[in-house]
Amino acid sequence: MEKIATSTKTLYISPLGLENSETAPRHIIEARQLTPEVVEPLFERAVDFKGKVARREPLDVQLNTYDPIISFFEEPSTRTRFSFEIAADRLGFRTITTEAGKVFSSRLKGESAEDTAMNIGGYQPAAIVARTSHTGDALRFASSLDCPLINGGDGKGEHPTQALLDVFTIREELGRLDGLKVVMGGDLANGRTVRSLAQILAHYEGLELTLVSPAELHMGDDVKKILEDQGVQIHETENVKDAVAWGDVVYWTRLQAERINGDSQEETMRLKKAMVDRQRDFSIGSDVMSAMRRGAILLHPLPRVEPGFVDKDGDELYPEILPEVDDDPRAAYFRQSENGVYTRMALLEYILNPIYGPEGKYPPQPI
Ligand code: NCD
Repeated sequence: MEKIATSTKTLYISPLGLENSETAPRHIIEARQLTPEVVEPLFERAVDFKGKVARREPLDVQLNTYDPIISFFEEPSTRTRFSFEIAADRLGFRTITTEAGKVFSSRLKGESAEDTAMNIGGYQPAAIVARTSHTGDALRFASSLDCPLINGGDGKGEHPTQALLDVFTIREELGRLDGLKVVMGGDLANGRTVRSLAQILAHYEGLELTLVSPAELHMGDDVKKILEDQGVQIHETENVKDAVAWGDVVYWTRLQAERINGDSQEETMRLKKAMVDRQRDFSIGSDVMSAMRRGAILLHPLPRVEPGFVDKDGDELYPEILPEVDDDPRAAYFRQSENGVYTRMALLEYILNPIYGPEGKYPPQPI
């Protein structure tokens, strides 16, 4: 178990965190916490929840739902926030939410992540789900909390629970996680989902990864090093069709136009324009799908850009997956999105399970 000393507290970051500490909260901050030993039981529970919800059966959960869950989102979110809140609701928790935390909370007045966390943590929530706009802020939030913090995406950093539902979907759709050929394409420099997903998949035998993006949007060397140290074979290409024809899983992502950052404002605008101009080369339509293997699947964390969308700078963005692909049975992104609810139910149940909760806070209950 690795200890990270922060300004206020010592955090224990290890697989679901805290085996050596019965009193520390079980934060979920980085994908490397989600090893196969941790995620396999979660997946089984998620399958169970999915079946029960489909049949509208009682869920059979034993949780102390006295305290509410806070969801604090500083950036736009549709899937992560709603699926967490629906998951919490299905487990019997009330949720207190702010959807635009950077605008409607005191963060806009210059309050630090630590102070914000110290205050809302003081209201005794069962857990906080936070999406923060700066990389590393999830850790800063957690450092001030006595309850679990779940990272719902921190800047260009990580998005571990998206990766959890992505891996669950691959397992459900393909029936295996070993020996996978995975293609990741789009904005691999600024997107956080691919950074987390690659790290969870790297725990499984024989992962081969093909990364498809323009050089400016290559995946960060920090993640590539982690993957290579685990023996993952990584290929990089700009040839979408060849990559798609090779993969078992094709994981496509949006140009994170709002995150592109150069050394100056002019450089940022120049880089963004250049990337917008190249979008068509990295788009998946029916022609690319015709190259895809029969048993393969196409995933996307969503949102994708709709045709004709013009952003705040007046740039028209090109869709990374065209709607004409949606009826293809290999297009699994909406099934993937639904799985966010069941995997997040399993995760919430696990981190709030009374036998692991901070001493005294979650009284022992029969499991
Ligand atoms: C992603 C995110 O916010 O990182 N969406 C999500 O959580 N499902 C992807 C994105 O914004 O492009």
